[in-house]
Amino acid sequence: MKRLFVGVVAFEVALLIIGLTWVRPIAQGNSAKDAGGPAGNAGGQTAFRTYGEGSGNVVEVVLDAVETEQDIAPGVTYHVWTFGGTTPAPVIRVSEGDTIRFTLNNESKLHLSHSIDFHAAQTPWDKNYVPVPPGQSLTFDWVARFPGVFMYHCGVPPVLHHIANGMYGAIIVEPKGGLPPAREYVLVSSEFYPSAKPIHGVYEGDIAAMEAADPTYVVFNGYANQYLDTPLEARPGEPIRLWVMNAGPTLDTAFHVIGALFDHVYPDGNPTNQLNGMQTWSVPPGGGAMFELSIPDAGVYPFVTHSFAYTGLGAVGTIRISADAPAAPTTYPTMASPFDGGLTPVKGTVSGSGPAVQPGGGSSTGSTGPDGSGGGDVTQLHASIAEGFTPSMLQIPEGGATVEIVNDEAIPHDFTIDELGIKVALGANATVDVKIDAPTGTYTFYCSIPGHREAGMEGTLVVGTH
Ligand code: CU
Ligand code: CU
Repeated sequence: MKRLFVGVVAFEVALLIIGLTWVRPIAQGNSAKDAGGPAGNAGGQTAFRTYGEGSGNVVEVVLDAVETEQDIAPGVTYHVWTFGGTTPAPVIRVSEGDTIRFTLNNESKLHLSHSIDFHAAQTPWDKNYVPVPPGQSLTFDWVARFPGVFMYHCGVPPVLHHIANGMYGAIIVEPKGGLPPAREYVLVSSEFYPSAKPIHGVYEGDIAAMEAADPTYVVFNGYANQYLDTPLEARPGEPIRLWVMNAGPTLDTAFHVIGALFDHVYPDGNPTNQLNGMQTWSVPPGGGAMFELSIPDAGVYPFVTHSFAYTGLGAVGTIRISADAPAAPTTYPTMASPFDGGLTPVKGTVSGSGPAVQPGGGSSTGSTGPDGSGGGDVTQLHASIAEGFTPSMLQIPEGGATVEIVNDEAIPHDFTIDELGIKVALGANATVDVKIDAPTGTYTFYCSIPGHREAGMEGTLVVGTH
């Protein structure tokens, strides 16, 4: 009987490795509460020696798995798969000993299963890291026993595709008793493998390039070179703490700051892993490190991956040291936007938040409001027969939004949604504001001029999150 069980597990592992989708129904009551003890600590097992029991403090974390669109470089809109509407996913910050009451809602519009894998958790893979079918949810508890900076990601096969398309984020577990004060930033490095040509203005992931580890972009926090124009800031001599997590999926990040040294590097961010006086430390895919430095002189200091075949693909940012840098925050949010290095809070539950449409052409920075809500923002849609509607998937909040539609061509188009009785003419090169106030749901928009829809002028409007 025991041998048979082992055989089944081995078979399932083999399925995962060869990349077949493995879906197992989610058990009812799959949570620690129902199991009568802290989850992630399978019944009867001994607790870890140095990293103790949970403190009893419970942090609720809810992430929606959703596919959307995001700019990853100037003029490059990519069809990202995300937790919470952005890639990287929100930065999560908890304390050692916290119980994380985690819920994954799979809101996939592509009929994909998604899953969660917290590198910071000790929890059974075959129970809590199972693929969650579209429309379903999974909840479980785990205790953050190890301090540091850890990856979380989707583990549905082929894992390469789910990670390369954007399903990852960083979680910081602050050690018991805290850390010395410092100005902190979170940097998630990753690669993007867009297709050679966009489809209706949006790039899809190129699976062959992912498999060949031949990225077009290597980035920090989801956007090529984003901290060249908007540097991270600090004051001369101020303690700086950089939490670096490398989501990969495949390449190392040889993290280095030009013109500076690290006083300390702590592999995986555990304060007991202290290294001193370091120039470069390589963070592997699926790993992290905490870098502490202080820079005595005012100036601009680039941070890079020192793997120079990849540096020019977008893996460069800068730290600007100046006496008039704004004061460092004294606290950091539990759920934060990844684009500003983990400084701006977003809601713990991303229902109704998460920008489907980033402002065109610019950095992703600042596209999410302080509360993570995109509501009330003007969303822009471009119409042309050459490119179709760009973006082809538009998401607006419940309660309505104004969409600014730009006809990029010198021929007329229109914007039609049959189910909502909307038909707005778009004159040659005109810009028209359309107010859309519709019930939660998914609608098709298209251009009704003969031949235009057939040429690709159609897209999907998602109102609310369902
Ligand atoms: Cu996934
Ligand atoms: Cu992993």
